[in-house]
Amino acid sequence: MASPTSMSGIHSLTRTIPLPGRGPRATWKPIPEPRSVSAPRLGVEIGRRRLRKTRAGSAINTFDVPVLSDTMVVERLHRFREGTTSEKTYLAMYSSIFGGITTNPANMVIPMDDHMVHRGHGVFDTAAIMDGHLYELEQHLDRFLTSASMANIRPPFDRSTIQTILVQTVAASNCTEGSLRYWLSAGPGDFLLSPSGCPQSALYAIVIQTGHPPEFKGVGVVTASVPMKQPQFAIMKSVNYLPNVLSKMEAEENGAFAAIWLDDAGYVAEGPNMNVGFVTKERKLVMPRFDKILSGCTAKRVLVLADSLVREGRIQGVEVRDITVEEGKAAEEMMLIGSGILVKPVLQWDDHTIGDGGEGLVAEALFDLIVDDMKSGPSAVRVSVPY
Ligand SMILES: Cc1ncc(COP(=O)(O)O)c(C=O)c1O
Repeated sequence: MASPTSMSGIHSLTRTIPLPGRGPRATWKPIPEPRSVSAPRLGVEIGRRRLRKTRAGSAINTFDVPVLSDTMVVERLHRFREGTTSEKTYLAMYSSIFGGITTNPANMVIPMDDHMVHRGHGVFDTAAIMDGHLYELEQHLDRFLTSASMANIRPPFDRSTIQTILVQTVAASNCTEGSLRYWLSAGPGDFLLSPSGCPQSALYAIVIQTGHPPEFKGVGVVTASVPMKQPQFAIMKSVNYLPNVLSKMEAEENGAFAAIWLDDAGYVAEGPNMNVGFVTKERKLVMPRFDKILSGCTAKRVLVLADSLVREGRIQGVEVRDITVEEGKAAEEMMLIGSGILVKPVLQWDDHTIGDGGEGLVAEALFDLIVDDMKSGPSAVRVSVPY
């Protein structure tokens, strides 16, 4: 059994110990009490160990969970954050619950009774921060508000107020390279299924510092066995990412970067947090239609930027259509596309080598186009942050 001082021991803090001569083996030794029980990785003492007798006469090794004062809770939250690397990473958070911005990671918490926490009734989106600008904020905001409407969440503020809050949160963070993540939730209220007891929806946003920009390096993918979401849920960016998490874990267990979903008709769909594109034998850039998958802001921008490759004669055209697995595996190039990775070439899909097994030239050109767009694209895709 795990020791109560280990993280895993937290789940087995109350143990029944056989009394001498009554259990299968008389290995029991009295525990000097009280003895502190701590969770080293949390950096806090979580109780004082005691030995108690049940009514039936058996002894229970248990401990008293401390009831903390407000000051102690704050102090412990601070100590918890100090013990993690995230203190340097989470630079600012906005919460409509406290109606402002905090730059202290220990304060970056949300209410337990928020329906997003216990029922998954929330939506989210992101935007990259590069060179002091938010990339494709407008496009991500469009999708964010569409997702909220599909999830029946009426935002607490209008669009321009939300945009102002997001930009000011980035300004307060002083972050010039990183990402902004934001959530709209049904809000706090109670623990019931219906959100009717949640009087006010909530907006949360966090600015995360990222160390290095995505690199252009080939990866392998596998076909996902975890079922993909039904179209109604796949096209909205809700917080229900369990299938996505399990599919990412499936990929990692198989030494791959991502697992690719096929839709119910067997066509190529998407990855757990990215879209997929191919360069066919006819040298066309093709992507699956967006009616059963998330409408990726990066994929849509890639489709626009790829026009310059058509003009230069490097590809013959751009198409959004159904793609079979056979066509995908026979493609000259395959790539994953998303705001977290930009454009990532795929070198292997299951046991099949894509193209010549190296990073593709079209994928590389698209990666460069997106990076240039992030650094010097038009104002329609770059919002300057007033630090
Ligand atoms: C399921 C899914 N598909 C595709 C994408 C790519 O979208 P974007 O380019 O807007 O990041 C994401 C991004 O998070 C996603 O979660």
